[in-house]
Amino acid sequence: MILAPSILSADLGHLADELQRAERGGAGLVHLDVMDGHFVPNITLGPLVVQAARKATRLPIDAHLMIEHAERYVDAFADAGAGWISVHVEAQPHLQRTLAHLRGRGLRAGVALNPATPLSALEEILPDADYVLVMSVNPGFGGQRFLPGSLDKVRRLRRMVQERGLSVAIEVDGGVEAGNVKALVEAGAEILVAGSAVFGQGDVEASARRLIEAAR
Ligand code: DX5
Ligand code: ZN
Repeated sequence: MILAPSILSADLGHLADELQRAERGGAGLVHLDVMDGHFVPNITLGPLVVQAARKATRLPIDAHLMIEHAERYVDAFADAGAGWISVHVEAQPHLQRTLAHLRGRGLRAGVALNPATPLSALEEILPDADYVLVMSVNPGFGGQRFLPGSLDKVRRLRRMVQERGLSVAIEVDGGVEAGNVKALVEAGAEILVAGSAVFGQGDVEASARRLIEAAR
């Protein structure tokens, strides 16, 4: 299991310190939420923040693009230092082209799904993806409650990946906390994103460690 703290809930005035605390707590990936105020009802971070995070940690950076026309911006995020980039299937009419472009640049290419989007949307595209990000809340904000149906979605996705003989990693994002990490890992999730459960509880290092422990 890889813990990917989402800096959306971090103290951005002390980003470097926050990232180091998370890293000491066992984080394996930094999750960075990009929102455009169109695809989701919030505006957050851009390539400049990726650049700042890139300087502050050795961990790979996972940019979750909750934006329209992601194909126009993926290079800016890659140039800024993101090694993993996910785009939403709901916002990408030419998803295959975008994923092939990411892979062509040597990046990990991810497909993100909103809670209401069925797994059948992955039918044709799964072989082109390195990971699938299953949203377990409606994207837009940190600190929302985990949607329980996501657990079975992860299970079914794992089966889908296995049946096709693929090696696509499953990432879960939204409402991840100590009470559900174990069930998520058992269902087949390999990357767990956590914002408020890491950065919103006081001691960041201890919170990260607690989540990793709870997932065992
Ligand atoms: C939500 C974002 C998440 C968010 C998770 O739209 O994609 O990555 O930061 O925050 P928590 O863990 O607090 O639900
Ligand atoms: Zn996210």
